[in-house]
Amino acid sequence: MKERLSKVLAAHGVASRRGAETLIESGRVKVNGQTAVIGQKVDIESDAIEVSGRPLRPCPEPMTILLHKPRGVVTTLSDEKGRRTVRDVVSEIDTRLVPVGRLDINTEGLLLMSNDGALVHRITHPSHEIEKEYHVWVTGPVDAAKLILAEPMTIEGHTVKPVRAALVERREDGGVLALVIHEGRHHQVRLMCEQAGLTVKRLARVRLGFLTLQGVPYGKWRKLTPLEVKKLKQ
Ligand code: URA
Repeated sequence: MKERLSKVLAAHGVASRRGAETLIESGRVKVNGQTAVIGQKVDIESDAIEVSGRPLRPCPEPMTILLHKPRGVVTTLSDEKGRRTVRDVVSEIDTRLVPVGRLDINTEGLLLMSNDGALVHRITHPSHEIEKEYHVWVTGPVDAAKLILAEPMTIEGHTVKPVRAALVERREDGGVLALVIHEGRHHQVRLMCEQAGLTVKRLARVRLGFLTLQGVPYGKWRKLTPLEVKKLKQ
């Protein structure tokens, strides 16, 4: 079956679709000894594909990991400002895994990374609405904020659904809130908390659906089991 070359290169973990097109444009990809062109279709069974002079490696095994993302790390595969990325944190894995959704640079906690396109699509599609739980260390009027967070709110022009909020720990100047949300807008938890009159000191995602950080120390990762992957795809 013939498929677009850039799609084949991305599926083999060479680069993203766009990155693969850049590679093709730069003349580093050959098909049957000829320099490839953008838009070219190939048959993986019968065409000999080379990238930078090396034959295309077989398609990697599907792999999904649960990373306990540390603070100060960008959720991207490469950063133009040279900051440490999630890929650097898992650099010992030699297959190209993409982050499934994102956490802000200063948010820590549960982040999935995967090369399984079906799983990435399933989890990031807005209709899926997988439950996400965050712990937020805040200062400010936590009891009043809980009531505000339980009502629909408009952040950056979008109405977001009320969240389930519980006070996990009360402190003199605030406390730790557990917030459960289904959506995934940029900076959603920080913006909601600020709008509710709180100052966010620390933010951690502690749960994604049925997955938790249990047994995965800060900065470490584990592979998801086949059963966990199956459940996520349901
Ligand atoms: N909400 C935020 O504000 N930041 C995150 O990283 C995730 C959710």
